[in-house]
Amino acid sequence: MPTLPDGLQLRAISESEIPNFVRAIDLGFGNSTPDSRIEAETRIIEPDRSFAVFDGEQIVGTIGAQTLPISLPGGGTGTCGGIAYVTVKPSHRRRGILTAMMTNQLAQSRERGETFSMLWASEALIYGRFGFGVATATQNASIQKVDARFRRDVVDAPGTLKMMSGKAALPHMQHVWNEAMRIWAGMLERREHWWEFKIADPEHERHGATDRYRVVYLNGEVPEGYVVYRIQPDTLELAVEELVWVTEDAHKGLWEYLLGVDLVKTISYWNMTADDPLQWLVDDARRLRRVELDGMWLRLIDVKAALESRTYSADGELIIKINDEFCPWNEATYRLTVESGKASVAEVGAAADLSLNADALGAAYLGGVSFSTLEAAMRVESSSIDRLALADAMFRTERLPWCPEEI
Ligand SMILES: CC(C)(COP(=O)(O)OP(=O)(O)OC[C@H]1O[C@@H](n2cnc3c(N)ncnc32)[C@H](O)[C@@H]1OP(=O)(O)O)[C@@H](O)C(=O)NCCC(=O)NCCS
Repeated sequence: MPTLPDGLQLRAISESEIPNFVRAIDLGFGNSTPDSRIEAETRIIEPDRSFAVFDGEQIVGTIGAQTLPISLPGGGTGTCGGIAYVTVKPSHRRRGILTAMMTNQLAQSRERGETFSMLWASEALIYGRFGFGVATATQNASIQKVDARFRRDVVDAPGTLKMMSGKAALPHMQHVWNEAMRIWAGMLERREHWWEFKIADPEHERHGATDRYRVVYLNGEVPEGYVVYRIQPDTLELAVEELVWVTEDAHKGLWEYLLGVDLVKTISYWNMTADDPLQWLVDDARRLRRVELDGMWLRLIDVKAALESRTYSADGELIIKINDEFCPWNEATYRLTVESGKASVAEVGAAADLSLNADALGAAYLGGVSFSTLEAAMRVESSSIDRLALADAMFRTERLPWCPEEI
């Protein structure tokens, strides 16, 4: 178990320490801390899951987890701790503080009986060593709005669009989000306090842009999608923060709306799904530029429970060996048996069909990348092409996984 450098102490924070905790986080990221940020974070910080490393009185390291169940292939959810607030004071870096904090955080997740841990990474080199793999991609998309339009044969979406205040939009957004969780694996369940955090629109989040606009797509009375966006007046950029939809009509209706907002030059969206149909709806797909980056990083805290919690696209039996130095309780060879899409898992002593590290399993688990691709990148060893093909067929999902929010 990695230990902290001498003289440092790691412990959970108390509620009264939240302001100092938030200031320490902002120092670590090089940001200032307006009071409105402390208020906002106080809504969602879970003190018993938030830890600080103290050098005397001073906080020199921070980490925290949120209880955020995650949607899985097949429409179910898994228990998950979403890790955030990871910082180490510049004066104390590269002495193993993050390693000690992460060890503690994952052990706590395990004690709570959680199956998964997830996070968003500020830099791609940090978290692979801790067994996290890139489970969802984000497509940073931008569209030059001038002349961007749908193909001529695309018929208008039949529903209605309503611009609403945060309060009025909230129940519609909650409905759409919960429905979307059954379609996309990788989404995080939002409880009441999380929605409050999302609906609040504090000044410090605007960065010179307008406050948030919210438009809901309704099929009769039923909400089927929504978009949340701001406009940056200097650049006339419309920045989509969230666009969630559960029917093709809603997707089409919301994009039709966005492409029709007057005076806007560019529409940007930081997190389009990698298989979003928009490029096939517009007449000139080159107007849509996309840069793909890592999205949500997933780590299996309990490999057996995780393999049993999702459904599979093909039946079959696979022997999978997992190497997991950072969470050694997972190191084993597992027999995954899938019948009618449902799995049972047992530890076995047999020779493995596939052998991989925990981070590669985190990447492949939701179906975001195939085992064949990982094998080509020397992240998976397989006993034969057939077993690799079977693994691909079993883990494949109809839609690519998606995590529409960064925590
Ligand atoms: C990222 C950060 C928390 C690392 O903390 P740290 O205490 O220095 O990390 P550790 O000393 O435990 O490092 C563990 C290992 O990760 C490596 N590592 C840590 N941060 C790294 C980075 N940003 N890039 C590449 N490698 C990194 C270390 O070199 C070390 O490798 P080694 O075991 O081979 O020597 C710290 O640099 C930081 O606060 N950065 C700014 C805020 C930030 O980006 N936070 C992450 C938010 S998602």
